[in-house]
Amino acid sequence: MEALIKVENLKKYFEIKKSMLSKPLQVKAINGISLEIPKGVIFAVVGESGSGKSTLGRVILKLIDPTSGKVFFDGQDITSLKSKDMIKYRKQMQIVQQDPYNSLHPRKLIKDIVGEGLKIHYKLSAEEIYLRIKEILECVGLREEHMFRYPHEFSGGQRQRIAIARALVLRPKFLVLDEPTSALDVSVQARTLALLCELKENFDLTYLFITHNLAVVDYMASHVAVMYLGKIMEIGSKDDIFFRPKHPYTVSLLEAIPSVGKGKRVRMIPRGEIPSPVNLPKGCLFHTRCVQAKDICAKKDPQEVEISPGHMCRCHLYS
Ligand SMILES: Nc1ncnc2c1ncn2[C@@H]1O[C@H](COP(=O)(O)OP(=O)(O)OP(=O)(O)O)[C@@H](O)[C@H]1O
Ligand SMILES: [Mg+2]
Repeated sequence: MEALIKVENLKKYFEIKKSMLSKPLQVKAINGISLEIPKGVIFAVVGESGSGKSTLGRVILKLIDPTSGKVFFDGQDITSLKSKDMIKYRKQMQIVQQDPYNSLHPRKLIKDIVGEGLKIHYKLSAEEIYLRIKEILECVGLREEHMFRYPHEFSGGQRQRIAIARALVLRPKFLVLDEPTSALDVSVQARTLALLCELKENFDLTYLFITHNLAVVDYMASHVAVMYLGKIMEIGSKDDIFFRPKHPYTVSLLEAIPSVGKGKRVRMIPRGEIPSPVNLPKGCLFHTRCVQAKDICAKKDPQEVEISPGHMCRCHLYS
């Protein structure tokens, strides 16, 4: 399958200062990620809080620049495109964020929120813009009259539909969905996920789906990458990850979920705390929490090993 998104050895380090006088510290949010997202799939990225999922999504969209590495969109290297040349790609790649309460401007009408990008990216008459907004709102289950209301007049689920409409009105090929339903009630979650699946088919989209929730991955995704402290520990088809997991980290995530597939919302919690990305463990990043750790795991960072075509794991148990 052709890749829509390709990422090569991507790194993103943030510099932070604890105080005015202290030396800056480096947060290694993403630390050497390579992956390909085939056209038309739902590619899930899972991992605990702080593992770098959102940063990965934002670097792929070029909302932030990587420290090093490359991002390709539809075969084109977009890593070092200037903003002028990036315009053409901006409308093709959009994001829907977790929090529908903060992501919509509170004092703008829905028609202006949804239509803003249209004015920037397309030369359209006012009438055409109106029609496009009306059309896309209907696609997400809202109505024409909603154009003239403000965000506070809508429920969380409806707000998320507005955010989805705002992304889709530009006719993108690729969406980053960053925990798009985790702020919603369970019943609303299910409907929003079903809508996202329907829209993916109708609009020929490819999704990078970021989530904590493996039940959601089970429902939505065909491909899964398991992230830990800025690296991909295991990547494969959904069946590889759910039925043939190799990495002890993946196994611990799956064990923390008693009812994958039964629609329960459970957070993934392996034992112990995730170490700080400012002070990464030597050797395998996961060894400090791994029940199967051997001597070598504290000394040497394992290389990626191919378990079967498309199924990769970064663990000394397999090297
Ligand atoms: N702008 C920033 N400046 C400094 N550090 C940052 C910045 N953005 C993210 N980080 C740090 O990078 C690491 C990864 O953050 P990121 O938000 O990508 O994780 P995440 O997997 O999306 O977590 P969550 O599940 O909580 O959303 C964290 O330690 C975070 O504190
Ligand atoms: Mg995040």
